[in-house]
Formats: sequence, structure tokens, C-alpha cells
Amino acid sequence: MELPANNADYREQDYWDTRYQTEEKYDWFSAYSSFRNLLKNDIKSEDKILMLGCGNSTLSEEMYKDGFKHITNIDFSPVVIQKMADKHSDLQEMSWLVMDICDLRFEPCSYDIVLEKGTLDALMVHEKDPWDTSVETLQKIDSILQQVTSILKPGGKFISITFAQPHFRKPLYACDKYNWDVNVSTFGNSFHFFYFVMEKGKQLSEKDRINEKERQKRKQERSCEKIVYLKCDDEEEFLFGIDL
Ligand SMILES: C[S@@+](CC[C@H](N)C(=O)[O-])C[C@H]1O[C@@H](n2cnc3c(N)ncnc32)[C@H](O)[C@@H]1O
Repeated sequence: MELPANNADYREQDYWDTRYQTEEKYDWFSAYSSFRNLLKNDIKSEDKILMLGCGNSTLSEEMYKDGFKHITNIDFSPVVIQKMADKHSDLQEMSWLVMDICDLRFEPCSYDIVLEKGTLDALMVHEKDPWDTSVETLQKIDSILQQVTSILKPGGKFISITFAQPHFRKPLYACDKYNWDVNVSTFGNSFHFFYFVMEKGKQLSEKDRINEKERQKRKQERSCEKIVYLKCDDEEEFLFGIDL
């Protein structure tokens, strides 16, 4: 396996293209069997499923063989998409597309399920402090989530499988503007992973709504503190207001 020199490389297409030239198969976190019971509760066999950042995982193949056949797989690596399309040419109801998850080109309300495993993590692992994610990453994730909720049919579900603990990931997902609720389960033996389900059209729980309001308030207060710094009389004091 080609490990990156730096965690930031997980965001780069070049890294994945090089890795997929030689790597045939790799399942991030764990394989289908370890969270199959959770997926079975959330997905029906006739559902149209969009897989974000499929990589060379066995997940889509295993789901297909288990009856979930209508899967569109996307990844920004043309290398892995070509390899996976060739390898699974017999699984005819499944399709493989080169596409960036930051620019999802699908019709609104066109999928019952959007599923990702480790793909959003790949966009965030370079962050130094999970309590204080950079504005750049927050904006990117927000843009992806807005596209995801638009693509989902009413009552559709976004399923996100991650190593990120709920206290880090929930604040990103539990926002009123996405028009979904957020539920989380865990799976795994020695190491626990997290299975988030967001159902479009459902309201956030009271607790999630209060927490979101608190976060918005703190954000507002922080930006006001910066304005106070920037208005300081001493001309050079403004330097303290800049996040380096
Ligand atoms: C950590 S791997 C997860 C692969 C697979 N989902 C699994 O569970 O094993 C992340 C995958 O996301 C893809 N990826 C990363 N950023 C992407 C982007 N902006 N658009 C589309 N795919 C992306 C990578 O090429 C890679 O295949």
C-alpha cells in the first residue's frame, strides 16, 4: 500500500491515482459484513444508491450480490474507476463514473440513498485540531452536504461511515439547513467505527437543535471579538486579530 508522505495528500487525486495503479483491493475501516445489519435497516433493494468515493473497496460488489443492485459509483480517480468498471463488467446494473464529490452532477431528488465510507474523512484527516476545523475544510464539507441533500429524494438517506467520533462529526451534519435529522450507531470489535444516518425531511432532535444554536452563537461571538481587535486604536494591534 502506498502511504502518503503527508495526511494532506489524501485530498489529492494524484496520490490516489498512483496508489490505485498497483493496489487491487482495500476496504477502509472494515468490510460490508460488519455493518450489513445496519444498512439492511436503512436501504431497500429497489433503492437508487449513490456511492461517494468508491475507491477499490468491495462494498458495492458485496451490496450488489446481497440484492442492492442500483448503485452508481463515483470517484475522482480515473485509474480506479476504469479498473473497477473492467473488474465488475458482469454486474450490469451498477455504473462507474469519474466525478469529484465537490461537484456532483446529478438531478435534484434523484437518489434514495447517498452512501460514503471514509471519503469525507479523506478530506479532513490533515486537520491539526478536530475541535477547530479550518474554515476552508468546513466550507468544502458544507458545499458537499448541500449538494447531497439536494440530490436526495424526500425521505432519502445520507449514510456516512467514519472513524470520526460523534462529538467531532455531528456538529458538521446536524444543521437545520440540510433538512434532515441525524442518528448515529457504532460497529466494530477492537476499534469502533461510526454509522451516521441522515433522513431528508425529518427534523433535528431538540438536543441537536439547541447545540446548533449554541454553536452559531459562539461563532458569532468569536467574529465580534475579532472586530473589536481590529478596531483597536494602536495601529499595530490589528495584528492580534489575525489568525496565523
Ligand atoms: C479513504 S478512501 C475510501 C474508499 C472506499 N469508500 C472504502 O470504503 O474503502 C477515499 C476515496 O475517496 C476518493 N476521493 C477523495 N477525494 C475525492 C473527491 N474530491 N471526489 C471524489 N472522490 C474522492 C479517493 O480517490 C478514494 O478512493
